[in-house]
Amino acid sequence: MYLRNCWYIAGLPGEVTNEPVGKIFLGEPVVLFRTSDGTVAALEDRCCHRHLPLSLGKVSNGHLQCGYHGLEFDASGACVSVPGQSRVPPGAAVRRYPVVEMYDWLWIWMGDPDAADQGLIPDVFWRDDPVWVATGEYWAVACAYDLLIDIQLDNTHAPFVHPDTLGSSAITDTAPRVERTDRTVSAGRWMMDVVPSPTFARAIGTEENVDRWLLWEFTPPSLCAFDIGCAMAGSGAETGDRSQGVTLHTAHFVTPETETSCHYFWSVGRNYNVDDIAVTGAMHAEFKSIFSEDVEIVEAQQKSLDNTSVWRPIDVNADAPVLQARQLLKKFISAETDA
Ligand code: FES
Ligand SMILES: [Fe+2]
Repeated sequence: MYLRNCWYIAGLPGEVTNEPVGKIFLGEPVVLFRTSDGTVAALEDRCCHRHLPLSLGKVSNGHLQCGYHGLEFDASGACVSVPGQSRVPPGAAVRRYPVVEMYDWLWIWMGDPDAADQGLIPDVFWRDDPVWVATGEYWAVACAYDLLIDIQLDNTHAPFVHPDTLGSSAITDTAPRVERTDRTVSAGRWMMDVVPSPTFARAIGTEENVDRWLLWEFTPPSLCAFDIGCAMAGSGAETGDRSQGVTLHTAHFVTPETETSCHYFWSVGRNYNVDDIAVTGAMHAEFKSIFSEDVEIVEAQQKSLDNTSVWRPIDVNADAPVLQARQLLKKFISAETDA
């Protein structure tokens, strides 16, 4: 069961050009294409005539033309032309999904189109704020989407999965402060006067002790947004002065594809040395390596789950934030299902 009345990331704007693109979201086939004014439209990827995937057709005069018998559909999903006859049969239409292009991503609303509210797109300001520089990638991942969310919110894996970059025993030694609102779960760890992890030692340019922060907010169904960084120990970062430190934002958006696969969009942004291309390249490479370590874990976890009929996990104290996030998502899904 998925949350439907919400925004998921459908892809990167550059992916959708003159050709239709077929994808699976939440187990449903969806075709994306650009209309004649350049806006992206998303329709059910199944022709209402004989059910050929519309992504096998082509875009013609801003309409999507089926590759089997040539029926044409506009951006609303209505059939507007049938070769060989002037009349379009009543009810000839496919489902439409609202799409918005924002923060250099394509966002899709998989629920009731009339309920789509652009104001609900999560704030990822640093993706297009000139004070920040952001980078990121899209990966197809072979696991259930919630496993990929779990690993992002479970920071105690860092010393074991990322020992050469983000890992440090300060994470496991510091309990997070967890807060919950109607719409989010957040957790914060402030690790004071600690040895910087290798990534932050490189970013801040010293191996002297730092005050390090690791703050995240989870917005159901699948946004994990992080504010991470460190500053020289005792320089006042915890009370708001980050001038002697470095801040990074990372975002992990996960769109379910099937029960055991998902679309993973990650991004990382920084507000220091923003014009230095070498720093951007190094940052991209470093986080790509870190996040690929996560993917290796969750794909192995999925294979393990595939081989068992029952999942009986034992929880430990460190699971509290993840369990709260799962509870909130479940509550959202129940509210939508019961409505
Ligand atoms: S299946 Fe699409 S036009 Fe016939
Ligand atoms: Fe990780």
